[in-house]
Amino acid sequence: MGLVGPGFVGAHHIDAVRRLGFVDVVAVAASSEASARRKADALGVPKAYGSYEDLAADPDVHVVHNTTPNYLHVPVIMAALGQGKHVISDKPLATTVADARLLLDAANKAGVVHAVTFNYRGNPLVQQAREMIANEEIGAVHFIHGAYLQDWLLQATDYSWRLEPEKGGESSAIGDIGSHWCDLVQHVTGQRIVEVLADLTTVIDTRLKPSSSTEAFARSGDEAREAVHVSSEDLATVLVRFDNGAKGSFSVGQVCAGHKNGLWFEANGRQASIRWVQERQNELWIGRRDAANAVLLKDPSLLSPAARAYAHLPGGHQEAWADAFCNVMRDVYGFIAGGKRPGDQRPPAFATFEDGYHSACVVEAVLESHRRGGVWTSVGQAVTA
Ligand SMILES: NC(=O)c1ccc[n+]([C@@H]2O[C@H](COP(=O)([O-])OP(=O)(O)OC[C@H]3O[C@@H](n4cnc5c(N)ncnc54)[C@H](O)[C@@H]3O)[C@@H](O)[C@H]2O)c1
Repeated sequence: MGLVGPGFVGAHHIDAVRRLGFVDVVAVAASSEASARRKADALGVPKAYGSYEDLAADPDVHVVHNTTPNYLHVPVIMAALGQGKHVISDKPLATTVADARLLLDAANKAGVVHAVTFNYRGNPLVQQAREMIANEEIGAVHFIHGAYLQDWLLQATDYSWRLEPEKGGESSAIGDIGSHWCDLVQHVTGQRIVEVLADLTTVIDTRLKPSSSTEAFARSGDEAREAVHVSSEDLATVLVRFDNGAKGSFSVGQVCAGHKNGLWFEANGRQASIRWVQERQNELWIGRRDAANAVLLKDPSLLSPAARAYAHLPGGHQEAWADAFCNVMRDVYGFIAGGKRPGDQRPPAFATFEDGYHSACVVEAVLESHRRGGVWTSVGQAVTA
């Protein structure tokens, strides 16, 4: 594999792929040859490229990973597809519906394997929740709700390229982390979000931008700064309707003190409820009316056979974010190594550009709902807009 954009999450792609044991990490590409060499040395990768076109053209690279800032996703992925390479892109696939459609169509035309790292799908108890709903263990689901809250943008001095529309896209919090929540609940419940009603807020509308760029979650020092206006949202509340009639709501914010990676969802069915909290990811809460509530602790011997495949340690041995990320890579690379074709049946943690495209449609519908003053907006309408 070769990776373009060796920043915060790029290092985790490389780590996850290495753990599979049958993939060679051949090259990284960064914005200059010097920074690529520095990153390649730090990550123990042999080749370093100053341009993603050169990495995509390297015959030793069969799979291109894209972990660049959002505005580079289209050119990087198009360069890889142009060379007939399989592509694993981080989310969001693209910052507009039109760009996501362009990438999906180009990937289908190229006939290569395409994936988007909606990595929370890779957690064993997420798969357990999915199985329980599919097997009707909690009954028909009528309410799906939750949140994705962080605090790393709480101070005016916190800054990221995500806040600049030309780099991160028009949406910040929804596109960046709301996209994870929406993909996760649709994956777990098997229901699609079809309508949204959104209220978006920019709590910190003037930020002090440091002169040098900082990685996500990094605190910047005392360097020179300039005051810049921020237009994209750092807080959002959204009502959602699902395609089989379930209702829901979620909150997203990166300005909520104490919440580090506070992703959680709850699904209420006619017989029982389930709740999964990312920061306590080895526990699955099961709520009942006529029996005691329960907490299922991650233990392969207690999971359904399909979910068990995502657990690699015995009970009492905690699995975490990086393990779930590795599970996603195992699903995608197992598919590639097995000689499967894009239309073949995929393992569940494997999200495709189609999922990335649908995610872009949901983000666009959220933005459109807010623009129109907070009215119900169809995800389908946003697709054709
Ligand atoms: N799945 C997840 O949980 C998750 C987590 C974090 C980020 N992400 C996504 O991953 C992507 C990267 O985010 P990040 O937080 O790692 O950002 P980052 O800023 O830490 O890293 C981006 C990297 O891209 C490099 N880069 C910039 N221009 C380039 C160019 N022209 N060619 C090659 N490389 C270039 C930068 O030097 C940097 O190393 C984003 O799309 C983000 O949404 C996903």
